Amino acid sequence: MQTKSDRLKALPPYLFAEIDRKKKAAVAAGRPVIHLGIGDPDTPTPDFIIKAAQAAVADPATHQYALDRGDAAFRKTIAAWHRKRFGVALDPETEILPAQGSKETLSHLPLAVMNPGDAGLVPDPGYPVYASSIAFAGGEVVRFPITADRGYLPDLRALKAKDLRKVKLIYLNYPNNPTAASATPAFYEEAVAWARARRIVVAQDAAYSEVYFEEPPPSILQAPGAKDVAVEFYSCSKTFNMTGWRVGWVAGNAAVIESLVQLKSNMDNGVFTAMQRAGAAALEGYDRPEVHALRAMYRRRRDCLVEALTAAGLEVNRPQATFYVWIRCPGGLDSRTFADRLLAEADIVATPGIGYGPHGEGYIRMALTVPEAKLQEAAARIKRLRF
Ligand SMILES: Cc1ncc(COP(=O)(O)O)c(C=O)c1O
Repeated sequence: MQTKSDRLKALPPYLFAEIDRKKKAAVAAGRPVIHLGIGDPDTPTPDFIIKAAQAAVADPATHQYALDRGDAAFRKTIAAWHRKRFGVALDPETEILPAQGSKETLSHLPLAVMNPGDAGLVPDPGYPVYASSIAFAGGEVVRFPITADRGYLPDLRALKAKDLRKVKLIYLNYPNNPTAASATPAFYEEAVAWARARRIVVAQDAAYSEVYFEEPPPSILQAPGAKDVAVEFYSCSKTFNMTGWRVGWVAGNAAVIESLVQLKSNMDNGVFTAMQRAGAAALEGYDRPEVHALRAMYRRRRDCLVEALTAAGLEVNRPQATFYVWIRCPGGLDSRTFADRLLAEADIVATPGIGYGPHGEGYIRMALTVPEAKLQEAAARIKRLRF
């Protein structure tokens, strides 16, 4: 019996599985493990969102299939939020699509816009979902480096040298996982002009757009002509501590959104309407103190970890956004060895950069999703190590 497709077999080995196994063994042995691996908020969803969801779940009008391109009221709320936050006008009928978080549509996109044999560009290092989804669609994955010397923004002109004729899609991700870098409006303008000249779809993953510490990050949809080529992926997951709820949306190019609608109508029956109402309540409450408090909490944690790790002698960049810290491995260690040693000698789980692509080598990622006291403790343990 064939139980695994060639498509699945062709996926690269899951690099985090080994770390996961060691982490579980350490926890089972009763060791005081500090989990800085996965980026999943540790504090609850704000109460005003929970209350809105409770009322929505109790309303029988939400109990049926959520067809019709998503809840119309949610789409209008999303459009109003984009107008207020970015000054971007979007048509809720054609340029917005509610989704089950952002991963769902990020991963379905290649099936919607690419043919087998087409190529898709993905950032290296980058969120692994982009490459696996292109591969699932029968596409060729072409990685482009994002490196510290350019602030982790790609050199799009350097891509000229490669064969771009087959490229139909480029993924961007700012604020960036895993490097925590942010993009500038000038970069988005350049990326849109580059993609328009080559008729390439730009998929900008904005899952962390609202987890920022200084200036609010820009949207690619603010760039002139962006809607000709770009779609941007948003999520309630990180902004409102709603990772388990599965609410997000795609905004931008109407033709790409239409293809996603058609694809999704063959794959799912929409986002539970009660969750869409909860998403609308979250966006309507975007300026509430509870939401500002989440950002303030991550800012304090960022300051705490960056200062403590720097004092421990590590080279750390101070993130302007996301809840990740990207740390250079000390003493020329490779990222797997450094992550292994952190777990074996300090009971700290961190993610090796190589898991995000070859250009992630030499770095590890730590997530700010544990309380400050644990971050301090982690840094104190690291300070005692010799590399
Ligand atoms: C860069 C990036 N994009 C998208 C996602 C998916 O998040 P969600 O599907 O919860 O919106 C994640 C989750 O960690 C992420 O790191």
